[in-house]
Amino acid sequence: MFSNTNKWKRFSYTIWAPVYDLVTSGLFERRRQRSIKLLDLKTGERVLLIGAGTGLDLDFLSANVNIVATDLTPAMIARLKRRAQRLGLNVDARVMDGHALDFPDESFDAVILHLIIAVIPDPVRCLKEVARVLRPGGRAVIFDKFAPDNTNPPLLLRLMNPLTSLFGTEITRRLGTLLADVPLKIAHQEPAGLKGLFKIVLISKTPCSVVSGVCLHTL
Ligand SMILES: C[S@@+](CC[C@H](N)C(=O)[O-])C[C@H]1O[C@@H](n2cnc3c(N)ncnc32)[C@H](O)[C@@H]1O
Repeated sequence: MFSNTNKWKRFSYTIWAPVYDLVTSGLFERRRQRSIKLLDLKTGERVLLIGAGTGLDLDFLSANVNIVATDLTPAMIARLKRRAQRLGLNVDARVMDGHALDFPDESFDAVILHLIIAVIPDPVRCLKEVARVLRPGGRAVIFDKFAPDNTNPPLLLRLMNPLTSLFGTEITRRLGTLLADVPLKIAHQEPAGLKGLFKIVLISKTPCSVVSGVCLHTL
């Protein structure tokens, strides 16, 4: 479908960019904060944001980590740069396609995937890129909309999907299916709104044991 292409996403998010903060204001802050907390970022770690948008996640990141933020849409990155400046954060912000990251293998400790896996045209390709750029033992957090695994997406979601897709996001993707052939394991997941449609998920490049919602790596 034409709406599931980079060309359409860039077009639709260029239109969204000037009003994005206004429209989403107050909707997701608590979830962003919770998701980033699960990453348990340490001083000096290198963290990558894919599909970073206007940079609303920057409010929950501190200056003691190295932040690299990427997005397909130049209008989004322009806003993100201004937000970083306002917050006094040193952010390496770049226009980049999340399907083909211009970074070496194993060059990040953590990745933030907020509201991008349900948006990007080929989410499996993006997740494979995440696995490639994460160091062994690295982790990523996803906050997004997913249909339940192991069953067909509910009829209502299937009926609404062409419309939501037109506005920039899918609502019938299943995370278990997307991760099936990707070397990333779910370490923790929790519902995050709209009767479980939204989820916060911590994934890890290596198997790990989870204690109190935190993934303890064996490497
Ligand atoms: C719903 S917004 C989410 C923005 C931000 N992560 C947030 O949580 O507010 C989706 C973002 O994904 C970006 N995007 C869409 N396709 C992309 C791609 N192929 N590569 C990178 N970013 C993409 C859009 O430009 C848009 O900024």
